[in-house]
Amino acid sequence: MCGIVGYVGKKNAVQVVMQGLSRLEYRGYDSAGIAFLPNVGHATHLQKYQGQLSVLQNHIRELDPTAIMAIGHTRWATHGVPSDANAHPHKYGRVQVVHNGIIENYAHIKNQLLAEGHHFSSETDTEVIAHLIDQQLSLNKNPLDALRTVADILRGAYSLAISLDGDPHKLYFAKLRSPLLLGRSHDGVFIASDEFALVDFGPQVAELVDGDFGYISEDEVEIFSLVEKTTALRKLSWQPLRAVADQVSKGSFKHFMHKEIFEQPEAIKRALAGRVGDGKINLPGLGLDFSKAQVKRIHIVACGSAYYAGLVAKTDLEAMLKISVDVEIASEYRYRQTLTDEHTLVIAISQSGETADTLAAIEKALSLNASCMSICNVVGSAIWRKCEGSVGNLSLNAGPEISVASTKAFTSQIVVAKLLALALAKHLGGLSADEEVSKVRALLSLPHKITDLLGSDNMVRLLASNFIDHPKMLYIGRGDLYPIAYEGALKMKELAYIFAEGYPAGELKHGPIATVDSDMPVVVLFGNDDLMAKTLSNLSEVKARGAKIISIAPMNAELVQEDSDFFIGLDEVDPFVASLMSAVIVQLLAYHLCDLKGLDVDKPRNLAKSVTVE
Ligand code: M6R
Repeated sequence: MCGIVGYVGKKNAVQVVMQGLSRLEYRGYDSAGIAFLPNVGHATHLQKYQGQLSVLQNHIRELDPTAIMAIGHTRWATHGVPSDANAHPHKYGRVQVVHNGIIENYAHIKNQLLAEGHHFSSETDTEVIAHLIDQQLSLNKNPLDALRTVADILRGAYSLAISLDGDPHKLYFAKLRSPLLLGRSHDGVFIASDEFALVDFGPQVAELVDGDFGYISEDEVEIFSLVEKTTALRKLSWQPLRAVADQVSKGSFKHFMHKEIFEQPEAIKRALAGRVGDGKINLPGLGLDFSKAQVKRIHIVACGSAYYAGLVAKTDLEAMLKISVDVEIASEYRYRQTLTDEHTLVIAISQSGETADTLAAIEKALSLNASCMSICNVVGSAIWRKCEGSVGNLSLNAGPEISVASTKAFTSQIVVAKLLALALAKHLGGLSADEEVSKVRALLSLPHKITDLLGSDNMVRLLASNFIDHPKMLYIGRGDLYPIAYEGALKMKELAYIFAEGYPAGELKHGPIATVDSDMPVVVLFGNDDLMAKTLSNLSEVKARGAKIISIAPMNAELVQEDSDFFIGLDEVDPFVASLMSAVIVQLLAYHLCDLKGLDVDKPRNLAKSVTVE
């Protein structure tokens, strides 16, 4: 999604902003732009182009720019196609603005402004903001009053950074339902939509909250709240920057995704650290007096891979707690009449903690008096903060995930949800001491087992090379492996642009098997459990229709091996954690196919890392 960086200070602001934007490239974008003020008394320069940041870089290099302040943006198109004209910053009159989010009432505002004689140079929702602020300034309002008035008019979500001609020492900002933070160092002050933008400058940072607006200058920050409706300054809490440059480097790997797949053993160790020990589960800090009288049902809300992690979690939670669990796609949940009430525990699963639909689902659940918690990778993110006042949060501790395709966050989500299921089952007296010991042991075995499994990396690449020209694929599995089939298919779609479907294996004969022929490779997922024989029958059904079979199965599954064209053997693990082993292989398969096809692994087309719009 879009990225914002702004800077006022002693360093060359153009360099700072361009460096910051380069750190945000991972979020996905289609155009980039910058507005900068070369020096006091000069006019603001504005450059913006469709395409990669390098296109913008090439254009501004010719200007040899130095500047005392700048705002920059990477855009992921929502309103209007990717184009130079639609790229940010947008300028009108004295105002330059960059914006993340969506202005829902922009069409209405634009029509009014058109009727008043305004001309627009883009198709974006954002441009109305520049017009509105300029209009307010023309009424002789000071910039902060202008911003306050405009914020009252706008509906939707925004984080904004604004520069004004004739006001060379200040950058203005406002935030509502879209992330924005400030940074300060000895030589200047920053605005950014993501702390990674600031890793090269090591400032202290302060998260903004909804309704914040104000300005920064080289050595000053003034911040007010639209929500509190007072004119008092709001106090900020400055913290050291959490992100470090190492976390946003590929190291010896060709792609972040490959690096993050290989980080999974460590990520899982971190997810378990301090939460299991001596064969016991211990999840401190959750403010939930969990009893069956209080919690009658559980809703899990999430999107994409996080939703599939939720489907795995449902299996564990229902089996251990004997409480009904619904896993809901957040974009549906938020608009549906749900049975959410004060007896519902709602669990949001999200890597970024920013996903707009998941955030809205949690807001809805809170408004219906549900107990809410998150399983989330970004401490302090919007979803995290919403849940803080309710049950609380379980951090994934997976470390930053840069590649758009989720890998280590996905497996960590499953692991943390398993910890939650165990802790709640123990609390309810539904977990025997023996079960606790064996399940904790199974979890603790994972980092080592996955490290060994990653030894199949080259073999999976070789296997992937057989499928480069296939336009479609099918993934099937049963039990807690059918969510992994969904995840495998999603990975294949988003990375290799192969149309892939995931299906519960038993559901094939109710329709999808009609698509199976010799052009359809089928990935069949097997666990070491009593569903193996059933899945083997499903394998036979697709094989009989000519499909090429790629089985991911326990090493000792000889019958499976005999019936498969390609076989990836998994070390034996406790069935409780088997889904995680298969998850790693489907990740590697999609990764290698994507790389072999020469596609952009870390930034697949049309996608963004954090989906902060509906
Ligand atoms: O940050 P979140 O976990 O809330 O993101 C949810 C989805 O957008 C995300 O999992 C998406 O499906 C990934 N591209 C999958 O690889």
